[in-house]
Amino acid sequence: MNVADSRQVSSALEQLNYQETDSAENADVVVLNTCVIRQSAEDSATGRISSLQGLKRKNPNMVINVMGCLVGVKGHQHLAERFPHVDVFSPPSDPGPLIAYLTQDESRALEEETTARRFAFMDEELPLPKNHSDQVTAYVHIVLGCSHACTYCIVPYRRGPERSRPVENIAMEVKSLVKQGVKEITLLGQIVDRYGVDLPQKPTLSSLLREVHDTPGLERLRFLTSHPNWMTNELLDTVAELPKVMPHIEVPIQSGDDEVLANMKRGYTTDEYRELIHRIRTRIPNVGIANDIIVGFPGETEEQFQHTYNILEELKLDVAHLARYSGRQGTVATRRMKDNVPEEEKWRRFRVLEELQKGIAAEINSRYEGKTVKVLFENKVRGRWRGRTPNNKLVFTETEQNLHGKVIPVTITWTGPWSMQGKVETRSKK
Ligand code: 5AD
Ligand code: SF4
Repeated sequence: MNVADSRQVSSALEQLNYQETDSAENADVVVLNTCVIRQSAEDSATGRISSLQGLKRKNPNMVINVMGCLVGVKGHQHLAERFPHVDVFSPPSDPGPLIAYLTQDESRALEEETTARRFAFMDEELPLPKNHSDQVTAYVHIVLGCSHACTYCIVPYRRGPERSRPVENIAMEVKSLVKQGVKEITLLGQIVDRYGVDLPQKPTLSSLLREVHDTPGLERLRFLTSHPNWMTNELLDTVAELPKVMPHIEVPIQSGDDEVLANMKRGYTTDEYRELIHRIRTRIPNVGIANDIIVGFPGETEEQFQHTYNILEELKLDVAHLARYSGRQGTVATRRMKDNVPEEEKWRRFRVLEELQKGIAAEINSRYEGKTVKVLFENKVRGRWRGRTPNNKLVFTETEQNLHGKVIPVTITWTGPWSMQGKVETRSKK
């Protein structure tokens, strides 16, 4: 989400003729995009804001913009008081305040006035992204905010209520990105599978996928993150049917214990989640499934944790994003429950699951050895080309060819829990 938001800001700035620089010291404008999903993220954000104070003192003309979930959608007076060296605060997914601030400067060219006017209705619409020519993959917000209110989660408070963007606007953004050379688009939402429920025409994620699928030049489509309760068979069948929609589902369970799930107000049981995984696997061949887990939720007993361990062991999902519970101010969990699992115990549970998942992922990935998979290559990392398979496995390959943005069959020669290596089969076709 934040990568998508940051890209949006950089596009907006490029439209005002700003250029990227690689160090804050040389910048006229510094944008700090912030995350507060856990206390550690918030601490690192506030630490970085404080550290910009020195730069601002050296260069008082520097414009400092703090955006994202630290700012939130409900006012930022407290931040303005705490960080007087910050010039502009912007809510998540909204470059509007920064653009308005920069365009107030009357010395700016007339052409920028048009831009300013375009950004005036930022609340409704995002600017079209520009300058993605170096990017093989890009993110597109389709649902902003969240109205679910899981008891541990600060996102609805900071990103505001759920708002789906109109189909036409999304289609236009996808087209624009692909025209600039982007090959793979990931559609984003906190509950991406609820796309459209708040729109008058009631489009669905499934209908949206069909709508953008045939965009000329587009190679791959993905979407995340799904909530178990909204994964209809229609959606799963659309994923299976449409060739450009990748067999890749990110659907968090958060806990493998029914009581903890109820305390989290997730809205499903472990049996319902099991059934969902079965449904996904039956309907989408070779699907890669990723999952999020929180350990150490208030009141989580050793036995309840064991239930989480057991379901992970049973379901054998491709990826598990693990997090240690972090109490967030204002959430129901913080107001009504006691954060009573000690930090060392959260760490222990985290490591136990990490070890388990490492074994599962290694096992799953080892089955790819000797197989040929289609990889979309993105960039070169330390001399090796890096790309992903349809079901989102990370693949590295060494070759003299330029694989940037190419989809190429690769024969897997080595596998590990987190990535694979392979040989490029044929010379690139495109
Ligand atoms: N503490 C720890 N992890 C959290 N997540 C969300 N809120 C919290 C919290 N308070 C995790 C969830 C979510 C992921 C994006 O972050 O697992 O799916
Ligand atoms: Fe947070 Fe739950 Fe909304 Fe996800 S669905 S953003 S975890 S409130």
